Amino acid sequence: MSEQSDFHYHLNATDGAARLGEVVTPRGTIRTPAFMPVGTAATVKGMYPQQVRELGADILLGNTYHLMLRPTAERVAELGGLHEFMRWPHPILTDSGGFQIMSLAGLRKMSEKGVTFRSHIDGSYHELSPERSVEIQGLLGSDIQMQLDECVRLPATKDEIARALRLSLRWAERSKKAFESQPKGRALFGIVQGGDDPQLREESARGLIDIDFPGYSIGGLAVGEPQAVMLAMIEVVAPILPTEKPRYLMGVGTPDDMIEAVARGVDMFDCVMPTRAGRHALAFTRFGKINLKNARHANDPRPLDEASDCPAARDYSRAYLHHLIRCDEMLGSMLLTWVNLAYYQSLMAGARAAIGEGRFEAYRVEVKEGWARGDI
Ligand code: GUN
Repeated sequence: MSEQSDFHYHLNATDGAARLGEVVTPRGTIRTPAFMPVGTAATVKGMYPQQVRELGADILLGNTYHLMLRPTAERVAELGGLHEFMRWPHPILTDSGGFQIMSLAGLRKMSEKGVTFRSHIDGSYHELSPERSVEIQGLLGSDIQMQLDECVRLPATKDEIARALRLSLRWAERSKKAFESQPKGRALFGIVQGGDDPQLREESARGLIDIDFPGYSIGGLAVGEPQAVMLAMIEVVAPILPTEKPRYLMGVGTPDDMIEAVARGVDMFDCVMPTRAGRHALAFTRFGKINLKNARHANDPRPLDEASDCPAARDYSRAYLHHLIRCDEMLGSMLLTWVNLAYYQSLMAGARAAIGEGRFEAYRVEVKEGWARGDI
């Protein structure tokens, strides 16, 4: 296989710590900073794949945990892999399952070997090891895979955080070994843990760099800690990570979290926020968050943002969106999901343009002023 079709990252420009780059995979190039819409169960809820693509998404996220339970990785593989199954031919990143087990599954037990848990769907018993997680992600055909890790809830003691990060480092090594048999062009990322402790964050990052991955995820953040703590941890980790590899901040976040993380050198993000909030009447716009459930929208003929390229934000009145939500009509969720993903993609496109032109700081100020000004 040629050098060009192998997985690699190009750093095209920097502006302060912010980075403009490209993650190149055989299935396509991911322009970074990138937001990855979450397609947990082989669907970005309420959106057609083509629609997600047209918003500018280069990559989607899928979840090992959900797909191993339903419809199972073996079935997806028999049906031609996840890309074919969900009709998304572009890159897919999959999470490893550990984090979702911690937040969703019942009766979890962690050991050196892996995790045992009960399904949140039917209570059935399952095991997930670092090797099995990589095997599942391989069966799905994921382009960017995650090591199995243990993410501790904060607050936690230093001993507890240290134990989890050291277990995650041993799992990182086992994951890398298990990944060796997969086709060229795919990548496995290590995940930095270490909670809210700078020393442990550094230990985790250095340990993963010693093992050597083609990209590094920053995990264990946006788990209830203040934004300042999250940003402080990014400031510890990002400067240690190799400049020639992509950095992915897992499960983050709000538009503000993403802008602040881009300013500190993060390249990739995923979060359920735009899709989940869209199903709960909340719109993300240039003017900040707008709750369409509120009665003040009932008679408002204005669209959410007349200057938006997104038809859902530009062509439908707030009164109509409010009506759909009040009636619990599914189109309400669909339109607001569309609005939110369009906004998240436009925020990243704006960041990329600004970094390329050396005006990221002005962009950061401009978008924040828009959110602060509000829309009335
Ligand atoms: N998603 C959000 N945070 C995390 C994390 O720490 N680990 C994994 N595997 N997924 C995540």
